[in-house]
Amino acid sequence: MEMIQRPRRLRSSEAIRKMVRETRVDKASLVYPLFVKEGIDVKEEIPSMPGQYRYSLDRMPEKLASLADAGVGSVMLFGIPDVKDEVGSGAYAEDGIIQRALLKAKREVPDLFYITDVCMCEYTSHGHCGVLHGHDVDNDPTLELLARTALSHAQAGSDMVAPSDMMDGRVLAIRRKLDENGFAKTPIMSYAVKYASAFYGPFREAADSAPSFGDRKTYQMDYHNVREGIREALLDVEEGADIIMVKPAMSFLDVAAKVREVVNVPVAGYSVSGEYAMVKAAAMNGWIDEDRIVCEMAVSAYRAGISVYETYFAEEIARFIDEGRIG
Ligand code: PBG
Repeated sequence: MEMIQRPRRLRSSEAIRKMVRETRVDKASLVYPLFVKEGIDVKEEIPSMPGQYRYSLDRMPEKLASLADAGVGSVMLFGIPDVKDEVGSGAYAEDGIIQRALLKAKREVPDLFYITDVCMCEYTSHGHCGVLHGHDVDNDPTLELLARTALSHAQAGSDMVAPSDMMDGRVLAIRRKLDENGFAKTPIMSYAVKYASAFYGPFREAADSAPSFGDRKTYQMDYHNVREGIREALLDVEEGADIIMVKPAMSFLDVAAKVREVVNVPVAGYSVSGEYAMVKAAAMNGWIDEDRIVCEMAVSAYRAGISVYETYFAEEIARFIDEGRIG
């Protein structure tokens, strides 16, 4: 039969399939989210995230060392303080959990790149991402606290700060504060396009950060919208964001692809706790092949245009790259 175009020719062996791959995944672009908490000798599993743990500072280095060994490029630290209050003072305390974690991590495992999540919700007694005025999060007074938090992270050694609160104007407030205090070189990765999502459920259990009333819909985005996400991304680039994050990843890759077209900074994607939990639950039931699903989820995020991928599966993905299963 006369047929000049035969797409299957480029799929006929592993060698040629690998040669013509359009998407390549690099271990240096992987970010692993890590929960640290007060206490001694604590490594407690998060019930809705089997295989993920909260570490006390003395146990944290063992995980960091294993990530560094696997070749994961970066870690994002999340802190779980013992004491919470109305204004989230633990977020910007000099001896706060993240500030101490940074000092120890940088000293003991210096090869990793340390990003810190800048937000109030793990530190406020009401679980919202800023200070309250009545039942609403008061935008402008929150900015000063976020900027103080980012500065305290930079002073403790953070390589990059990542505001995840979704207040208006926070990137500019943080940029100014860092610059005024000698941290002009510290980059900001903004969770610019962050949706109010049920996919964060397991994280809130892990970080004990669920809002005690209401929800986050007055600051996080409505998932029906994409043009609004582009607006958020463009605003944050204008305010000085160095990297723009889209979050969650899996159900929002259309958003990532569009954001990637309009900004000229790298785009990051965060495959969040609910994505992890769904994969684990199905795999533990024997319903899916976990490794192959994890590879597909990762590659599809890069294919959509993200170039930094945050995931609880970072160490596994690094191994899959070594084994030539993806990449
Ligand atoms: C803090 C923050 C959250 C996540 C990252 N930073 C929770 C939230 O916004 O409620 C979620 C990450 C995940 O689900 O893995 N604001």
